[in-house]
Amino acid sequence: MKKDTELVELGRDKKWTGKAVNPSLVRASTIVFDTMAEMEESPKLGHKGVEYYGRRGTSTTFAFCKAMAELDGAAGCYAYPCGTSAITASLMSFLAAGDHLLMPDSVYEPTRKFCSKTLARFGVKTDYYDPMLGKQISGMVKDNTKVIFMESPCSLSMEVQDVPAIVSVAKQHGITTIIDNTYATPLNFRPLDFGVDVSVQSATKYINGHSDVMLGIACANEKAWPTLNHHSYELGLCTSVDDLYTGLRGLRTLGVRLKQHEQSALAVAEWLEQREEVDHIRHPAFSTCPGYEFFKRDFSGGNGLFSFVLNRGDDRSVAAMLDDMRYFKMGFSWGGYESLILAATNMPGRRTTVPWEAAGPLIRLHIGLEDTEDLIEDLAAGLDRLNLHL
Ligand SMILES: Cc1ncc(COP(=O)(O)O)c(C=O)c1O
Repeated sequence: MKKDTELVELGRDKKWTGKAVNPSLVRASTIVFDTMAEMEESPKLGHKGVEYYGRRGTSTTFAFCKAMAELDGAAGCYAYPCGTSAITASLMSFLAAGDHLLMPDSVYEPTRKFCSKTLARFGVKTDYYDPMLGKQISGMVKDNTKVIFMESPCSLSMEVQDVPAIVSVAKQHGITTIIDNTYATPLNFRPLDFGVDVSVQSATKYINGHSDVMLGIACANEKAWPTLNHHSYELGLCTSVDDLYTGLRGLRTLGVRLKQHEQSALAVAEWLEQREEVDHIRHPAFSTCPGYEFFKRDFSGGNGLFSFVLNRGDDRSVAAMLDDMRYFKMGFSWGGYESLILAATNMPGRRTTVPWEAAGPLIRLHIGLEDTEDLIEDLAAGLDRLNLHL
């Protein structure tokens, strides 16, 4: 089955859909049993897709998780109330007091905070590595290193990591690998095929695609799945079936949306590249983006997210540009149908291992599904305002 066909087919087993096209939305806390024997047996089968208590999920949950696991080529998928809880639960599943964790210096800020605050409180030591390290990451591995985390490309400065090289080092040392694969989704990069143990996504972004649901997932291989599943359930993590239903609906159009986001983002990035105010483009398909060669080698496509570095501008002029944008809205997320813009202030403060050095401010765009002519006009007017306020 090709990917676009999978997006239509997955999770639509007749036992969940009945005669309808879509799986039913089954809301439940309590599940009632006909016999004592059935009641005693069901908890043992809960992790195999048998309803026994709402926290484990209902048929809506199982339809969503089966679809996501198959798409990722995984042994299992756990659904979480947001991407951040998918990340934190995955980390907690494989770490204990006294362990050492390796995190890319460019990692999503809340992930970093969780490591430096919560995990530190529980006795886990984190070191931050240069995201461009490949096999050389072996120099940072210690006897007690239990997890190497990756995020590729990272969602702000867009470095693409050499995942196979990092995984080969991790395997030599028996270290679990976890990746934040929110950018690619399994459509454009399947981490488990590259030997990664756990692939995490914020489904809040492209899987849902409409900026109205918070949702996270973690898919794991045979080796990691029992541990991930067991610990995530112990943490009491469960997800509203309304959100899962919406996520499953988003999944059906993921392929066409991603292609359009990618095409429009390339058009806007190519236009920006020609502008004299722009120092360089940080889009994984551009040679000016660190790790571009790994993107070309490992990924089958991109999306609407990229950044660019200006060669001029301060807080005042950047605010003049951003405050009056017509179509680009200012917001922290991405992956919806709408275009977004943000100025990444304090880039140097976000790093501890590799100092951030750039000609000027970094602006991140999410290119939505609007007409690119309108978006380019909006950006041109914004750059005029930037120049006026220098
Ligand atoms: C790369 C990345 N990972 C994880 C998250 C967290 O996802 P959520 O907002 O669903 O918790 C985000 C959110 O912006 C993100 O950009």
